[in-house]
Amino acid sequence: MTDPLPPVFPAPPIGVLDSGVGGLSILRAIRAQHPAEPLLYLADQAHVPYGPRTIDEVRTFTLAIARYLIAQRAKLIVVACNTASAAALHALRAEFPHIPFVGMEPAVKPAAHDTHNGVIGVIATEATFQGALFASVVGRFAQGVRVETLACPEFVLLAETGETDSPRAREIIRHRLAPLLDAGIDQLVLGCTHFPFLASAIQDEVGPAVTIVDPSAAVARQVGRVLDARDLRCEGSSPGRVLACTTGDPAALRSVAEMLLGPEADTFDYCALRWRGGALEPAP
Ligand code: DGL
Repeated sequence: MTDPLPPVFPAPPIGVLDSGVGGLSILRAIRAQHPAEPLLYLADQAHVPYGPRTIDEVRTFTLAIARYLIAQRAKLIVVACNTASAAALHALRAEFPHIPFVGMEPAVKPAAHDTHNGVIGVIATEATFQGALFASVVGRFAQGVRVETLACPEFVLLAETGETDSPRAREIIRHRLAPLLDAGIDQLVLGCTHFPFLASAIQDEVGPAVTIVDPSAAVARQVGRVLDARDLRCEGSSPGRVLACTTGDPAALRSVAEMLLGPEADTFDYCALRWRGGALEPAP
């Protein structure tokens, strides 16, 4: 499919994908470090949440989204979703060998390095824990460390509705994380891109003795390394445009993006896509 690029993109953008608003935590970090880069964000809110889905299903969606982003001339694709990375990163690189991909993996390595008592917690989606990527990260980086895992599907839904700091959100967070506190963790890895939006509420609930590990800034640094290595950096100093597309409701995406990112989200453009025959196309 070869829709012309919207006029907001005179230069090829970085594509950023997620099931919903979670990847905006990565987009925010990319904007902070690489402000001139144009960004094409794609939220598959017709299918959110990805976490309870099968790996095969998430891989199918992710491949189709990447195909759409590439048709829009994306020069680099950030898989700003741990679940999609776990399900599809290998397949993406095999299917589109000419496109660089930056994916997510739970930040077990820094947590295992920094733990004082040898007990770390990882919160992510069920699908992320099932994927081979998580087992491989634990196998490579967490020798001799106890890794307590916990799926937190409600946290995804809280971020999707912009409810990041209500009394109800805090109650859900407190209740859900209690087993990890009982296990004595001193590091808590945010293994889902929706969770950084809950980070301050999570920190309040787990207390200062637990360090929260948010990989967003490290992912944005990796984006910078790939841009440099491939000579893909956007020239110019004015802020890059952001176009946020959703397979759900663009007005709803806009209002939640404003809750999560503040007034910066007002400067973005928003558009609707729809699924048809397993591919994405502009919604009428
Ligand atoms: N934000 C996603 C992740 O990083 C997916 C959450 C979901 O859709 O369940 O895993």
